[in-house]
Order: sequence, then C-alpha cells, then structure tokens
Amino acid sequence: MQRKPRIKVENLTYHYGSGPPVLKNISFETGKGECIALIGQNGAGKTTLAKHFNGLHRPSSGKVYIDGIDTTSMKVSELARKVGFVFQNPDHQIFHDTVAREVAFGLKNLRLSRREIEERTAAALEAVGLTEHCRTYPFNLSKGQRQRVALASVLAMRTETIVLDEPTTGQDFRESVQIMEIVRKLNENGHTIIFITHDMSLVARYARRVLVLCRGEILADGDVRSVFAAPEILKKTYLRPPQITNLARRLGRHSIPPDVLGVREFYELLVKIRSEKIGCCS
Ligand SMILES: Nc1ncnc2c1ncn2[C@@H]1O[C@H](COP(=O)(O)OP(=O)(O)O)[C@@H](O)[C@H]1O
Ligand SMILES: [Mg+2]
Repeated sequence: MQRKPRIKVENLTYHYGSGPPVLKNISFETGKGECIALIGQNGAGKTTLAKHFNGLHRPSSGKVYIDGIDTTSMKVSELARKVGFVFQNPDHQIFHDTVAREVAFGLKNLRLSRREIEERTAAALEAVGLTEHCRTYPFNLSKGQRQRVALASVLAMRTETIVLDEPTTGQDFRESVQIMEIVRKLNENGHTIIFITHDMSLVARYARRVLVLCRGEILADGDVRSVFAAPEILKKTYLRPPQITNLARRLGRHSIPPDVLGVREFYELLVKIRSEKIGCCS
C-alpha cells in the first residue's frame, strides 16, 4: 500500500516581495511518523520553508501539499488543524495572562465543548510537565518553560504534524533535553516531527532523517548517519557533525566506522573491537 505523504513540496520557489528568491526549486516529501531535522546556516531559508507548512507563507511558484491538499486552497485556520508550529521565540506566541488560558486559546476556534477544552488543556500541560503552573503568568516562567507553554498550545490542537523552529536555542542542556524528550515521545506516538536546529548533537540523538538547506536549496536529504559521514556537505553550511562523529572518522583506519552518532555507540564499538582482537590472539 502506498503511503500518502504528510507534506509534499514540489518545485517550491519563494521570494519576499520583489527580492531575490530565498527558496529555490525545492522538492521533497515526508511520510507519516518521520522525525526530520532541518538544518543549515543562518539565512539558509529554514524558517521561510517551515512557514509554508502552516500557510504563513504561500509559494511564489511550485506547490506545497499537506495530506494531499494544495495549501493555496486551504485557510490558515484549516492548516492549523493539520500542522502545529512552535515558533523560535515563544514570546511571540504567548498573549494570555495564565498558562492554562494560553494553552486553551487555540482550542476555542475548534468549536469544542468546554469540557473537552479543559481536558485537552490539562493533558497538554501534563505532557510538557507544567500542570502545577496552570495559573502562573507565563512571563514569570523561564524561557525553557515558556517554550514548553508554546509547545503545549500546539499539542492541545492534536495536529498530526508538528514543526518546531529552533526549540532549544537559548536554553541550557537540561532544558534542551527536556523539550527534545517531549518531542521524542510525540514522535513515538505517531506524530510527524520537523525540527529546525543548529545543534548537531540533538540531530544525532533525536532525528532519523536530515534535510540540509544551503542558500535556499536542498544540499542533502538523507538519514542522519549518511549525511554526518559526508563532512564536505556540512562544511558548505558551516555546520560541524558532533565531536564523537568527527573522532570516529579520524579513527577510520582503526576499524571504527565513520558514521558513529553517539558516545554509547562509540564505546560499544571499542569494546567489540577490543574483544575481537583479544579473541584472535588467544
Ligand atoms: N520578512 C522578510 N523580508 C525579507 N527578507 C526576509 C524576511 N525574512 C527572512 N528574509 C530573508 O530570507 C532569507 C532566509 O531567511 P530565514 O528563512 O529566516 O533563514 P533561516 O531560518 O535559515 O535562518 C534570509 O536572507 C533573510 O534575510
Ligand atoms: Mg530561522
């Protein structure tokens, strides 16, 4: 059975006003349940591309389809039921005086009963670990917590696809992992995830596929391992693979494969190589 793409981008070109194109003839598809990292240097066009998925931008030419429907024929409110978008700066998304009101806001446009709104709000706050802050003024929270309020607002809408624009930028390691673990669970529960990041260790840890954007064009689209094992691709974007991948590549002639993504994997390889060597000498 052929699976319908969740997002299909076909020869997408976009320019702001009469300026030069910032996205140039982009094509790709995402399947249901994928977890994709969108990477590229500043100004590459990542945010501009992502805003096509929820109708904030419409193609100058080419097409964007969500669940097979051309976005130019859909209202932003219709797209909001299909694609949730967590903006880079949560403060641009937060308007209400309590966390619960903020999370409930989008639901009011869905014509749900009051009870369902309350249930969805409570479930979303629980999922992001903010239940105890339901009555807190959002701007009294930390940046990481505010990012989780923005994420809860998106979760409450129960969209199949969730796009996160640099969800961990400006946050410490603990807060970044907290957000990304929520994202991981969402993906495990079947949501299609696209996250934009500059942090290659998060890409290695959480994404399975990576789309590399460079000056408005797709430079690479593949599984994380193969893209990270090709340093010339990342070099063009001024991004570096995680240090552990660099180390593995340098140790290539010592039987270490060049596409190691994590410390645990590296450790297990070393143990295996060592035991094989001991085995062959005994
Ligand atoms: N509102 C805008 N008006 C004009 N140009 C813009 C606007 N927003 C972004 N750009 C330009 O579009 C290009 C891509 O920007 P953006 O999508 O924000 O990149 P990224 O998210 O990869 O950093 C950049 O050259 C940027 O200066
Ligand atoms: Mg951006």
